[in-house]
Amino acid sequence: QQQEKASLLKAYDFAAKLYHFILGNTDQGKAAKGYLTSRGISDKLIDTFQIGYAPAMWDTLVQQLDKRGFDLALMERGGLISAKHEGNGYVDKFRERVIFPICDATGKVIAFGGRSMGDAQPKYLNSPESVLFNKSRTMYNLHQARPNMRKLQQAVLFEGYVDVIKAWEAGISNGVATMGTALTKEHAALLNRNADQIVVCYDGDQAGQSAAFKSIPILEATGSRVAVAMLPDGKDPDDYVRNYGFDRFVREIIEPAVPSMKYKLLYIRKNFKLHEDGDRLRYLQSAVKLISDLHSPMEREHYLKQLASEFPESSYESMKLDLHEILLQS
Ligand code: CTP
Ligand code: MN
Ligand code: MN
Ligand code: MN
Ligand code: MN
Repeated sequence: QQQEKASLLKAYDFAAKLYHFILGNTDQGKAAKGYLTSRGISDKLIDTFQIGYAPAMWDTLVQQLDKRGFDLALMERGGLISAKHEGNGYVDKFRERVIFPICDATGKVIAFGGRSMGDAQPKYLNSPESVLFNKSRTMYNLHQARPNMRKLQQAVLFEGYVDVIKAWEAGISNGVATMGTALTKEHAALLNRNADQIVVCYDGDQAGQSAAFKSIPILEATGSRVAVAMLPDGKDPDDYVRNYGFDRFVREIIEPAVPSMKYKLLYIRKNFKLHEDGDRLRYLQSAVKLISDLHSPMEREHYLKQLASEFPESSYESMKLDLHEILLQS
């Protein structure tokens, strides 16, 4: 098992270097290079993130691995190549895709994310879990972000590879991503070991905002303070950088990140028609319920006062009564 792991690690390392070489130095890589350029990903970023390109042929990697004496059955079990559907033999798993190497905490390549450049589905093809790759414990860019997370005692959590990469260029050196999978307890613990504060910066679409809302209790359960950076509807960090530039992304999105309670209040607000009495009351009740979850009496007071000043027709005193009622029941 140890030997298998070592051999797979060697193979992933080799494949990452091969794909990176093909992207930078061959005719086959030209279209992918153009694709990355059009997305604003510079040569410097291609190097920093060791981005590569897997060509369209069926067996570029298989042949190279075979030539170097790697055990192809093991490579298939490790998710690096695929068994042929018919007959014996193996074919490349990643074809005609831009390759984002995924590393463990020490920087060793343990998986790939492969993006199609056209309409080929899925948009991202990721390596399956293996003896090397456990999705619920792996975060994209952790190895490069970790020292900065420690220094700043802050981590920024994104949804996607390209968001992390663009944010890096914007000076956000403590950014990581969960790569499409839901945030797990293990991810939260991992972040908490390295930083006190987590800034969640998910996409500004319904899926992203709902994922941000759900991430808050998971992150806070480990003791982290959480803030949420909000993007305009339908935009992700990469879109924002492309539209408005790096500086505005930092100044207008990352820096104004709001404390988790404020975000939760804003988030549930969208479900109510606040100009209607009944809905307004139900919103206030839901808001007070959220506020009652806060452990610190001072914090509860703070948000309750804010809520009361926003809705002067319902008095602070009555909200406080409601809050006490909830606290007594729980
Ligand atoms: N993802 C995935 N498989 C998919 C779609 C998404 O694994 N079919 C993961 C990828 O890690 C992706 C992340 O989920 O980076 C966020 O998804 P999405 O917002 O749809 O993709 P973007 O990162 O915005 O991709 P791009 O900008 O390249 O279009
Ligand atoms: Mn290089
Ligand atoms: Mn998304
Ligand atoms: Mn996105
Ligand atoms: Mn995107």
